[in-house]
Amino acid sequence: MNDAAPHTLLDYLLKATDYFKSRDVESPRLCAELLLAHLLDTTRIDIYLRFEEPLSAATIDAYRELIRRRGKHEPVAYIIGKREFYGRDFLVNKDVLIPRPETEHLVEAGLAGMGDNHSARVLDVGTGSGILACTFLAEREGWSAVALDISEQALAVASENATQLNVTDRIDLRQSDLCAALDEKEKFNLIVSNPPYIRKDEWDLLPHDVSDYEPRLALYGGEGGLEVLRPLLAQATRHLETGGLFLCEIGEEQGEAVSELARESGYTSISLENDYAGKPRMLRVGL
Ligand SMILES: C[S@@+](CC[C@H](N)C(=O)[O-])C[C@H]1O[C@@H](n2cnc3c(N)ncnc32)[C@H](O)[C@@H]1O
Repeated sequence: MNDAAPHTLLDYLLKATDYFKSRDVESPRLCAELLLAHLLDTTRIDIYLRFEEPLSAATIDAYRELIRRRGKHEPVAYIIGKREFYGRDFLVNKDVLIPRPETEHLVEAGLAGMGDNHSARVLDVGTGSGILACTFLAEREGWSAVALDISEQALAVASENATQLNVTDRIDLRQSDLCAALDEKEKFNLIVSNPPYIRKDEWDLLPHDVSDYEPRLALYGGEGGLEVLRPLLAQATRHLETGGLFLCEIGEEQGEAVSELARESGYTSISLENDYAGKPRMLRVGL
């Protein structure tokens, strides 16, 4: 940063970036750009075309406040209230997990796995912001979904996202401890879940951006990380159609343990799939 007082948009971007670096904020320049783009109601690309523009006093004050929050490691997605998932913006707040890019793998596998089934019934267990259920419905207009979450606050966010994506008439949101709110006879062609699976020892190593801000209920899987996965695998067998597909995100070291749990629960064709980084992060099972 040069010594002259900041004046242009670029000056403030550089200043924010330096501040984030001093606070050990990850991807400092990207954060500075995302927050400014949000304030100016524009895109990051547009910012690059406007480097020499001055910022108004009101924008400077508002930008300072957002920078202060990010400097305390509050995630950008919570500050700006949204995160992109599979090409669509989803509303997020502190009551829901911030969508992760690796979870898009479940969408791709689910869409491919259902092939030309034009009326698939989907079950999303632990829907959070609703990204999985809503994305399937937005991608396939003949599909319907039941989306479950134990958190009423998370379901409120999922409901807003369903409205935003125009899928409310095809989604049934229910508060439920795992599959408890399902009728014994309810069956699905596709079951998906990204359950909490962080182990106790991993929890202590999480970055502050995650452990201080994202809901523990969404992440923590108990001492060994399997406290939600174990009953989930057992319960989901009762609701999967014969010939159906159950896809579940798992921790990178859980492949062996969850494959064994899947065998014990009576699933067939059990396999693990790697994420884009080559780590086994998805369990794929059938019945
Ligand atoms: C890792 S988050 C996933 C959210 C969303 N599906 C996603 O992929 O971003 C796990 C979700 O499971 C929910 N959850 C935790 N325990 C649960 C339980 N026993 N029954 C139902 N939902 C549960 C949490 O509230 C949270 O929304």
